[in-house]
Amino acid sequence: MGTNAIPPPGTRRPLGGLRRALVAGALGTLVLGTLTAVTGQVSAGAASAGAAASTLGAAAQQSGRYFGTAISTSRLGDSQYTTIANREFDMITAENEMKIDATEPNQNQFNFSGGDRVYNWAVQNGKRVRGHTLAWHNQQPNWMRSMEGNPLRQAMINHINGVMNHYKGKIYAWDVVNEAFDDGNGGRRNSNLQRTGNDWIEVAFRTARAADPAAKLCYNDYNIDNWSWAKTQGVYNMVRDFKQRGVPIDCVGLQSHFNSQSAYNSNYRTTISSFAALGVDVQITELDIQGGSAQTYAAVTNDCLAVPRCTGITVWGVRDSDSWLGANTSPLLFDTSGNKKPAYTSVLNALNAADPNPTPTPTPTVTPTPTPTPTITPTPGPGACAATVTTTNSWPGGFQSTVTVSAGSAPVNGWTVRWTWPGGQSISSLWSGQHTVSGSSVSVRNAAYNGSIAAGQSTTFGFTANGTAATPTATCTSP
Ligand code: XIL
Repeated sequence: MGTNAIPPPGTRRPLGGLRRALVAGALGTLVLGTLTAVTGQVSAGAASAGAAASTLGAAAQQSGRYFGTAISTSRLGDSQYTTIANREFDMITAENEMKIDATEPNQNQFNFSGGDRVYNWAVQNGKRVRGHTLAWHNQQPNWMRSMEGNPLRQAMINHINGVMNHYKGKIYAWDVVNEAFDDGNGGRRNSNLQRTGNDWIEVAFRTARAADPAAKLCYNDYNIDNWSWAKTQGVYNMVRDFKQRGVPIDCVGLQSHFNSQSAYNSNYRTTISSFAALGVDVQITELDIQGGSAQTYAAVTNDCLAVPRCTGITVWGVRDSDSWLGANTSPLLFDTSGNKKPAYTSVLNALNAADPNPTPTPTPTVTPTPTPTPTITPTPGPGACAATVTTTNSWPGGFQSTVTVSAGSAPVNGWTVRWTWPGGQSISSLWSGQHTVSGSSVSVRNAAYNGSIAAGQSTTFGFTANGTAATPTATCTSP
């Protein structure tokens, strides 16, 4: 994936004797560092002899990882805040400024003023940026909250394209879909997006891949840290299914908001390594620990460091007073006066003790299982239909299209659209329909939820394809 200037963990080459000596030195100071983490009386500078890095970002980079924070535009005028953030962190997430309500406050009117302020601050200070977030039930603008069904599906696709196009080639990883699973069971959260059809998540990821092929595409959620929880298993099964079917997904974001109801559990490392074994990166995306336990912060850090595909950690704010949880919960690494807390020292020491060249997790060869031939039988009904293919995006070697299926003067109950490719094109993924291919002929039947079209109305499906963009004449039949 394109813009990552730092090689992923596990791919770095050993740097020879000097490096090994430095690491040995770092290990030597770890004992001291661990003790100081408990008392909190000795600063990070105690990691002596130049062996250990003195900031979180630099320490994480020693094993090819990053250490990030969430940044809010409302605090960019606070010099204590920007000084700490600039010194310590090398990956930035906009706390709110790239969310749907911020970037598309009115439908199809995009606003990147806040997002760009965070992005520019990060890049001007030499940092990379995580994008957060494109499709989410929360922080939707009012116009989107009131939408359902196919119009919402199309609005989601349009939103992903609009935002990703603005930041194309500039974002390390996007949280494409946020918090789509229910708490307490392994199923999906009921939301207006979910009600557009169960395939909304894969449609979001396919749209995102076409919009910016350089960004890593993540699924991000909370309460998926504990391996024994049903929600964790639900997300795991979805990611495994996506990898098997070739739905583009590169990473899983564990938000990791820990508190007494959702406490850190030592099986966290199993969660990270199990996701990684599916062939995706794992990123800890919004870490905060209520109470700020130095031991728990160290455990979280060590669990990430133990898994080569755990590529970085982001804490959700700089000082306790910057936290969305309120300063009294003491959840972050710096206190309200900007001092390093014992948790800071324990994280820094853990990062400095990391193996610079860990053994990578073997990536399994996930053989895509063939998509079963759909057996949807459309209910017969009267009514003719028509179909038009339009190109919505194209790039060297591929393109994305929307097909509009319209009913005539009578309603349509079930439809099939057919066309023949003119020049060797082939579909790579298709959503809101079920397709079969025979040579250069393509046949697309309605999905379970969009077969019925009222008289004079229309629905759409979409696809990405390989080859040169084409707009073949399509026929539509309705049984
Ligand atoms: C939070 C922000 O920190 C707050 O400022 C805002 O009021 C609400 O959202 N999960 C997420 C984040 O994915 O976007 C949330 O951020 C915290 C929970």
